[in-house]
Amino acid sequence: MCGIVGYNGTKNCAGIIIEGLNKLEYRGYDSAGIAFEEPSGLEVLKAVGRVCNLEKLVKEHKVKSKCAIAHTRWATHGKPCELNSHPHTDCNKEIAVVHNGIIENFAELKTKLSKKGHKFYSETDTEVVAHLIEDALKKEKDFFKAFTSAVKQLKGAYALAAVYEKSPGVICAAKKQSPLVIGQGKGEYFLASDVPAFLNHTNKAIFLEDGDIAQITPQACNIYNIEGVKQKRKVNTIKWNPATAQKGGYKHFMIKEIFDQPQATKDTISTLPPDVKKAFGIAPAVIKKIKGLYIVACGTAYHAALSAKYVVEHFAKLPVEVETASEFKYRSINFQKDWLFVAVSQSGETADTLAALSNAKKAGLKALSICNVIGSTIPRASDYTVYTHCGPEISVASTKAFTSQLAVLYSFALQLAFVQGTITKTVFDKLYKEFLTLPQLIEKTLKDAEEIKRLARKVYKNNSYIFLGRNASFPVALEGALKLKEISYLHAEGFAGGEIKHGPIAIIDKGMPVIALAPKGGLYEKMISSCQEVSARGAKLIVISNTPTKNAVLVPYTNEYLFPVLGVIPLQLLAYYISDMRGREIDRPRNLAKSVTVE
Ligand code: G6P
Repeated sequence: MCGIVGYNGTKNCAGIIIEGLNKLEYRGYDSAGIAFEEPSGLEVLKAVGRVCNLEKLVKEHKVKSKCAIAHTRWATHGKPCELNSHPHTDCNKEIAVVHNGIIENFAELKTKLSKKGHKFYSETDTEVVAHLIEDALKKEKDFFKAFTSAVKQLKGAYALAAVYEKSPGVICAAKKQSPLVIGQGKGEYFLASDVPAFLNHTNKAIFLEDGDIAQITPQACNIYNIEGVKQKRKVNTIKWNPATAQKGGYKHFMIKEIFDQPQATKDTISTLPPDVKKAFGIAPAVIKKIKGLYIVACGTAYHAALSAKYVVEHFAKLPVEVETASEFKYRSINFQKDWLFVAVSQSGETADTLAALSNAKKAGLKALSICNVIGSTIPRASDYTVYTHCGPEISVASTKAFTSQLAVLYSFALQLAFVQGTITKTVFDKLYKEFLTLPQLIEKTLKDAEEIKRLARKVYKNNSYIFLGRNASFPVALEGALKLKEISYLHAEGFAGGEIKHGPIAIIDKGMPVIALAPKGGLYEKMISSCQEVSARGAKLIVISNTPTKNAVLVPYTNEYLFPVLGVIPLQLLAYYISDMRGREIDRPRNLAKSVTVE
């Protein structure tokens, strides 16, 4: 949903800005632009399409500047074109603004400003901000005060950055609901929607909070609230290795991130000792009182949540409601006060998940969040947070975050069950021992990548794919289908194995690939029957199992509730190879953004 980058320091920032935009391209990539200070004044360059097009322009113009703001766009208001791309300027082209989010009252503001004689050039909501600042500067000569006065008039979600020709060496920034983080260097500051944008330059990050307005110069970053009261914000040290934000010799981030999974789960599991207080920060006395869970998430994180439902119900015998956040937030829920609310989100910024979380908080529930981005909004709004330690996930299609989310949720389910007494210490220890071997098992599973590539070659020309699973693996079937459609744009659907006979079997015909998850366990035989039904209708069957089975890709054995973590890996690889064979833009699929910070 758009990426913002800024720099204010002593170096020529052209390269720093382009590097930052490239790191944030996962947030949007239909156009990009930069506003930079030159001795002669403010300059703006814009290019439709990828950041590389802007990079060419920046090189042609031999940009040399020590203060700039820039943007990579994912269109919401107005089609992708040069006029609509950011930065947007005021009537005199002295003020430039970049924005991520949606200004809900922009139409009303635009009418008001137009009546005052302001001329608008784009169809965007953002442009009003530049004119509001211009308007405020008529009464108030100070740029920061004028910026604050403009922000006061905005309704909606925004991460904003602005520069003003007559106030060189100053960047003003504001945050509400969309992420904005400041990187602190020596005699320089960075500004970005996400940490990887500046991680090569500094690992010191200040996460702005909702309502914060920052004034950034090369020497200082002062943060105020809307009333002008100074705010203290922590400087976090980010432990991510900058190398994890590089492709490291792989063709795409997605395949690199698939292969990052042993390390990502290892790093995540190492923070999850078999002690609920240490792992989740929740006292056993509180855990004992939990009567049920609401688990809410979007996209891939939703599938992790859905799989956890089966695990919690099986081991902890508690009721679990799982829903996509976009639905949950609009339901009239009679919240059960003794249930725990759990939000799962890689980015920690997804607007729908955040809204669902605040509904639960308003109803008086305690909330646990499972997120990957340290210091992001969802953890800050939660009572308890557990981080997945995947490092930055760059590919739009989520892979390593999913397996780490599954790992955290599995650990939580076991600890919940043990504390509530639904499993004995012996059973808990045995299950936890198996859980701790996950990183090695993932490593072994990845050894089959070549076999999956060979299977992909057999099916990649098909236009329609079916995924089947049951129990904790049913959500994995949904995830396999989602992965494939996200990056290949092919039709793919996931079904519960037992449902196939209630309709979907009608679409199976000769040669259609059907990918079935069949772990050894309670429903193994039933899944095999479903496989036979589709085979009998001519489907090309690929089975993912952990026990010798006809047509199966074998993954290492675990109990069926842990199987999803391994079972999804062949599906991630299959989606990747099929899409690569079809020549798709794997890391930046059309119409998608990694972090959806607006409704
Ligand atoms: C977007 C992305 C998905 C992601 C979902 C939830 O739709 O394209 O890949 O799973 O958001 O994101 P989150 O950061 O909350 O996990």
